[in-house]
Amino acid sequence: MTLRTSPEVGGMGHAVKRKEDPRFIRGQGTYVDDIELPGMLYLDIVRSPYAHATIKHIDASKALAMPGVLDVITGATLAKYNLHWMPTLMSDMQMVLPVEKVMYQAQEVAAVLATDRYTAADGVAAVEVAYEPLPVVVDPFKALEPGAPVLRTDKPGKTDNRIFHWEVGDKAATDRAFRDAAVTVKEDIYIPRIHVCSIETCGCVAQFDRVSGQLTVWMTTQAPHAIRTVFALVAGHVGLAEHKIRIISPDIGGGFGGKVPVYPGYVIAVAAAVLTGKPVKWIEDRMENLQADSFARDYHITAELAAQRDGTLTALRIKTLADHGYTDAAANPSKFPAGLFHICTGSYDFRAAHVEVDGVYTNKPPGGIAYRCSFRVTEAVHTIERMVDIMAHELQMDPAEFRKKNFIQPERFPYTSALGWEYDSGNYGAALDLAMHKIGYAELRREQAEKRQRGELMGIGISSFTEIVGAGPSKHFDILGIKMFDSCEIRIHPTGKVIARFGTKSQGQGHETTYAQILAEELGIPVADIQVEEGDTDTAPYGLGTYASRSTPTAGAAAAIASRKIRDKARKIAAHLLEASEEDLEWEPGKFFVKGSPERSKTIQEITFAAYTNHPQGMEAGLEAVSYYDPPNLTFPFGSYICVVDIDKGTGEVKIRRFVAVDDCGNIINPMIVEGQIHGGLTMGLAPALFEEISYDAQGNIQQGSFMDYLVPTAMETPNWETDKTCTPSPHHPLGAKGIGESATVGAPAAIANAVVDALWHLGVRHIDIPITPEKVWQCLRANGVTA
Ligand code: CDP
Repeated sequence: MTLRTSPEVGGMGHAVKRKEDPRFIRGQGTYVDDIELPGMLYLDIVRSPYAHATIKHIDASKALAMPGVLDVITGATLAKYNLHWMPTLMSDMQMVLPVEKVMYQAQEVAAVLATDRYTAADGVAAVEVAYEPLPVVVDPFKALEPGAPVLRTDKPGKTDNRIFHWEVGDKAATDRAFRDAAVTVKEDIYIPRIHVCSIETCGCVAQFDRVSGQLTVWMTTQAPHAIRTVFALVAGHVGLAEHKIRIISPDIGGGFGGKVPVYPGYVIAVAAAVLTGKPVKWIEDRMENLQADSFARDYHITAELAAQRDGTLTALRIKTLADHGYTDAAANPSKFPAGLFHICTGSYDFRAAHVEVDGVYTNKPPGGIAYRCSFRVTEAVHTIERMVDIMAHELQMDPAEFRKKNFIQPERFPYTSALGWEYDSGNYGAALDLAMHKIGYAELRREQAEKRQRGELMGIGISSFTEIVGAGPSKHFDILGIKMFDSCEIRIHPTGKVIARFGTKSQGQGHETTYAQILAEELGIPVADIQVEEGDTDTAPYGLGTYASRSTPTAGAAAAIASRKIRDKARKIAAHLLEASEEDLEWEPGKFFVKGSPERSKTIQEITFAAYTNHPQGMEAGLEAVSYYDPPNLTFPFGSYICVVDIDKGTGEVKIRRFVAVDDCGNIINPMIVEGQIHGGLTMGLAPALFEEISYDAQGNIQQGSFMDYLVPTAMETPNWETDKTCTPSPHHPLGAKGIGESATVGAPAAIANAVVDALWHLGVRHIDIPITPEKVWQCLRANGVTA
C-alpha cells in the first residue's frame, strides 16, 4: 500500500491537467509504484547484516529453486559488464553490488528477480550469504588515528581514511584576531546524522526495448537530466547512449535532497531490464529507506568566536570532522567538498574567519546529502547561531541586542563576507525587529526573570539566519562537471495556449502553479491556458533539477527571461499587424497598443495566431523561446525566528510555547505556497532539534532502524507556527525573488536549541547537542543539582 501526498498546495488556478501529462501512463496513478506493465518483473534486495565483512560466498540455489524466482543478481553478475561500481556525485566510487566485501549494515549484497513482489521478498529470505566479519570503524575521530583499519582498500595507494582536507579564509588574520580578542568562546557542537523521511520511498520501473535499444526509466529522482547523463556515462560501454535513455520522474512524494543520488537499486533494476528484456520494478520498503539511503549532516564541529569587550564580533574559527560513511557521495557542487558550509559567518560582519573541514570514511552508509538545505547550510547556520548566543550570554548581553550590534547593515550590500561570498541584499535588523514585536520580546524577558525567581524554567531563543540558495552561477557550480544553470522552454500554440517545460522537478513544492503564475504575469495569458511540465528528459530542456531551493532563483528566472524573449517577438508581430513602428508600441499584460491610441491594440492571443498565420515576411513563424539561465550570483534569503520554551523540571520535557518565524525571500510569487513551504520547513527543523538522530553502536549496527526508534514529528508534536515576512528583493534576479524552500528547516533548529540553553544558562549549561531529548535535559538538570 502506497501512502499519498497531495502533489501540490493551493495557489492560483491550477494549471496542469494531470491526465494529459505525457509523463504518466494513461489510466494509472501518478507515482512510480502505480506503474504496472505487462510481463513486469519485481526486484528485491538482499542486504548485509554486518557493517564490515568479507563475503565468503553467496548461495542462491534455494532461491532459484522457488517457483517465480527468475534470477539472483550478484556483484559477480554485474562485474562481467563492469557495472559493479559506479561514480558518486563527488567523483568517488560506490558499489552497486559488492564482489569482495560489504562496508555498512544494510548495504545491497544481491538482488532477486521474480514474477511478483512477494515471491521476490521470499527469494531474498532464501539467499544464503556467508560473511567473515572485519574490524568496524564507526567513530570518525578514531578513523583518523594511526593504525586504524584502512577502509577503502579498493583505492590503490590509500593508506588512511581521510577523504579530503579543505580550508577557506585567512588563517593568519584569524589567529591574530583571536590573540588580540578581549573575549573568546569555544564549543564542540555535534550535528548528528538524520534521515530524509519523504512520504514515498525510492523506486523505479525500468523498461528496455531490445529492438530499438531504447531504455525508459520511471524513477523517483529530483534531477532527471543529470541522472540520464550519468547513466549514459556509466553504461555507455554496454550500449546505453544518452539519446536512447529516457528518464521520467513522475510524482515522487517528497525528495528533500534524498532523491538526488543514484542508489544501487536503480542501477540493478536497469541492468535487470536490459538483461531480461522485460520491465523491472524496484520499490524500496520503509526500513530499507531509513537504513540504507543517503543520510544528512554528521558534522563534528569545534567553533570559536572572538569579540571585543563592547560586544563587537571580530573573528570566527571552525574545525570540522565530516563523517561521510564509506564513500563520498555528498551531493555537493564539485568545487566545494564541504558544500556551502562557509556561509557560516551568517548575518554578522566578521573581519576575519577561517574554516577547516576534514572528510572521513567510516563503516556507515554514504552521507552528505543536502537535506532541505543548500549543501551544509543547516550545519553552518546552527553553528553560528549557537555560537552567537553563547557569546552574548558570556558577555551578559541580550542575545537580540548582541545580534543587532553585529548584523551586516543594509547599506553594506552587496556585501563580501570574510569567507568570500557576495551577499546580494539583506535587512536583518528589520526581520528581527518584526519578530520581536510580534512575539512581545520585552514582556517575555520580564516574565522569564520572574519565573526564574520562582525556580521555573523558561527560555527564549533567537535564530537570525542567512541562507544561500540558487546554485549556479555556473562559473563556480557544477555537479560531476555539469554546469549548474536551469531552463525553461515555452511554446505558444496558434490559439494562444501555452506549454512550458522546465529542467527542474517539483516534489510537492507547487511548481506547476507558481511557474504558470510567472508566465501568466509576463505574457498576459491566463493561468488556465498554461500547462507546465517537468521531469521528462525526452521533452523538457536540460536542467540540473530541484534541490537546495534553487528552482525559483534559476528556472523561475528562466521562465521570466524566456517570456520576455517571446514578448520581444510578439512586439514585432504586433507592429506588423498594427502598421506601427515597434518603438510606438506599449505593453500592458495581455496586449500591445499604440502609444496615445489605446484602441489600436492587439491581444497576445491575436498576435500568437498571427505568428502562425500572418507573420511579417522574413520572420520565422511560430512563438517559442527557451532560456538556459545562468544566475550571476546566488540569492541570500534570511529570517529571524524566536522560540519560547517551558521546561518541565521533573521530566526534562521541552514544550514549545510560541514560535514566531519572520522570513524574507524577496518578492514572493505565491504567498500561500511560500507559507506552506515555511510551515513544512519549520516542522522539518523541529525534527532534528528535538527528536531525530541516526546513531550506530560499536559494531556499526544502526540504532534507529525503524520508526519505532526514529520519531518523525506529526501534528501531535508540532506547535502552532506564527509566520510573517519582510521583503528585500534580490537585485539580480529578474523577478527580485529569492528561494524559500529550505529556509525554515535551516533556521529553526538553532532557535529551539538557543531557547532551551537560555532556560538553563543560569544553572551552568552552555550547550546541548541536538536532538534535545527529555533525557538529555533531565541529565543536565540533575548534573546541575536541579530536582523536581
Ligand atoms: O527549488 P524549490 O522549488 O524546492 O525551492 P524554491 O525555489 O524556494 O520554491 C519553492 C516554492 O515556493 C515554489 O513553488 C516557488 O515558486 C515558491 N516561491 C515563491 O512563490 N516565491 C518566492 N520568492 C520563492 C519561492
